[in-house]
Order: sequence, then structure tokens, then C-alpha cells
Amino acid sequence: MMENLWKQGYQRLGPVLTREECEAVRALYADTARFRSRIDMARYQFGRGEYQYFAYPLPRIVEKLRRQLYPELAPHANRWMQALSLPGDFPSDLPAFLEHCHEHGQSRPTPLLLRYRAGDYNCLHQDLYGDIVFPFQVIVGLSRPDQEYTGGELLLTEQRPRAQSMGHAVRLEQGEGVVITTRYRPVEGSRGFYRTTMRHGVSPILSGERYTLGLIFHDAA
Ligand SMILES: [Fe+2]
Repeated sequence: MMENLWKQGYQRLGPVLTREECEAVRALYADTARFRSRIDMARYQFGRGEYQYFAYPLPRIVEKLRRQLYPELAPHANRWMQALSLPGDFPSDLPAFLEHCHEHGQSRPTPLLLRYRAGDYNCLHQDLYGDIVFPFQVIVGLSRPDQEYTGGELLLTEQRPRAQSMGHAVRLEQGEGVVITTRYRPVEGSRGFYRTTMRHGVSPILSGERYTLGLIFHDAA
């Protein structure tokens, strides 16, 4: 379990939402009262397309999924940070971790809903929102590839020290979750671990409309 996360910096989780749940979550996009802010990616040169950060309280399905996934990831997160020689002692449940974020002035919710239409894309980036950074996040596909959109693959790049970068393209099925690393991956070398830098983005949508749910576990400053 989570073997590929350690080996490649991402892990496919298989289906985490049903088709009905995907459709219910993406239908919330139009309900602006559910969100605390909307980002037009072109305005910040992040790419093209838009996304909205949910406001607290999160929709029930989103809250449940974030709460369910966190404890599966927390033990890996602790070993991950240790391998990177970075501080990080993550509690085993999400409420305790969020309390820790709030004590450090990070109290705004980070789960988000992203909407891409033909021609939209997301530049390669990392999502950091303050000093406290959980090393993983989960992306869930809410639209059906081929039927509802074409193009729009999840892209991951890994920048290795003194070597050229490597890329992965992930086609997300509807309801499928993928864990990605927020920032670094520890790689075991002959003299212990070294770190690579990972970024993620989305290749241009060629046709249709693609929604994804982003679950970030730390809250934002
Ligand atoms: Fe991101």
C-alpha cells in the first residue's frame, strides 16, 4: 500500500467517490455561497481556467473524504518527513491536525473545486499555504474522460539533483483519487535519502469540461 507514492511520488487510489457523488459535488460549483473565494487562473498567470475554495463547513461528502483519507496518509507523512530530514510530526486524525494548523494561524479551508474548459490548463506548481505543510494531497476526477472531455491529463514532474526532470501523465477516471506529494519526494540513495522536487499541473483540455476536487489537508494562513 502506498508503494507507488514512495517510488514515484504519486499513488492511484482507485474509486473514492461514486458517479452520483461526483455529479453532486461538481454541481456545487454554481452555488457561490459554498465557497470562500474564486480564482481566475489567467489573472495570476497560473494557467487558464478557474477554481473555488470551499468555505467551512465543507459539503458533507468532501468533509467525510478528507477525514477518511487523512489517517491513511498520516503515518506515511511522518516517515516521509523523517526521510527528508524535515520537521513534521503529524497527529493520527484530521481534527487534531487542523487544530494544530489553527494554532499557527492557518485556519482557512483549502479543499477546492476546479473547472477547466476547452483551452484551459494549469501550469506546473506546488501548493503551499503557510509554514505547516502536509506532504500529500489528493485529487479526485469528477468528470468522465473521453465522454465529457478530452486532453486534460494530470501532469507531474520530478526534478532530480544533477539530472534531467522526469514527467508522468495521469488520466483520471471519474471518481478516481490520486495522492500526490505536495513538494518533495525522498529517494533512497547509496548514502541515505536525497530529495527531488515535484510539481503538478494539468495539460490543456482539448474539448468539453473537466471538474476535479482537490483535497489539501493543511488549512491556509
Ligand atoms: Fe495544485
